[in-house]
Amino acid sequence: MFAIIGGSGLAKLADLKLERREVVRTPFGDPSCALSFGTIDGVAVVFLARHGYGHTIAPHQINYRANLWALHHVGATEVLAVATVGGIRADCGPGALVVPDQVIDYTHGRKNTFFEGPDNPVTHVDFTEPYTESIRARLLNGATAAGEAVIAGACYGCTQGPRLETAAEIRRMERDGCDLVGMTGMPEAVLARELSLPYGVLAVVANHAAGLGDSRRAISLEAMGAVMDEAMVRARRVLAASLRAGAAVSR
Ligand code: HPA
Repeated sequence: MFAIIGGSGLAKLADLKLERREVVRTPFGDPSCALSFGTIDGVAVVFLARHGYGHTIAPHQINYRANLWALHHVGATEVLAVATVGGIRADCGPGALVVPDQVIDYTHGRKNTFFEGPDNPVTHVDFTEPYTESIRARLLNGATAAGEAVIAGACYGCTQGPRLETAAEIRRMERDGCDLVGMTGMPEAVLARELSLPYGVLAVVANHAAGLGDSRRAISLEAMGAVMDEAMVRARRVLAASLRAGAAVSR
């Protein structure tokens, strides 16, 4: 069964034919919300709103461990995550859809492993390629099938938030090789890896990152909202097509 994790602007999946909701308790506390089970175009899906259905949970307060554990527990076998980001690389402007292939983690103080505590031997998972290639291919093939432009490959820099970045922080991230900046990519991706859950992200660019383009002096939250309203329509189409698309690597 596919899991979809929705981010800002995607707290509900309009195209999900809802069958039931389930509250899942986990050894790590409560997930962001009850899980929604249903179908999209006949394909079984479980949906979770990362920030809660009312968008009340800040990025650093999300219980990523409970979210991933719950999805795994109910039988999810592949995770398609949607994340709102700022664009750093020139071609990743507002409205762009991007399937990243790398991550740099700037977060701190988040619970970022299942492998801790007295009964858990220390385990170092391989994270050379943070996103599962078959999921990336599925998203890219889905975009092709839906006729939506998508950028294949980008480095997602994950900041702590909830504040947006300074212009200097974005310049540093650019020097580091980041193409996108968001606040929720980690530890979500690594926790999926620890559970051996195939995982990939469809990033939706809401704004130029701080200090760049029309965010040179400030980031307009109003403009961000308008971009997201339009871009999420395309993101939903890509998601729906991705469920039907093959996972063969064709690019
Ligand atoms: N920075 C961090 N997270 C974000 C941004 C940004 O500019 N836009 C949307 N999510």
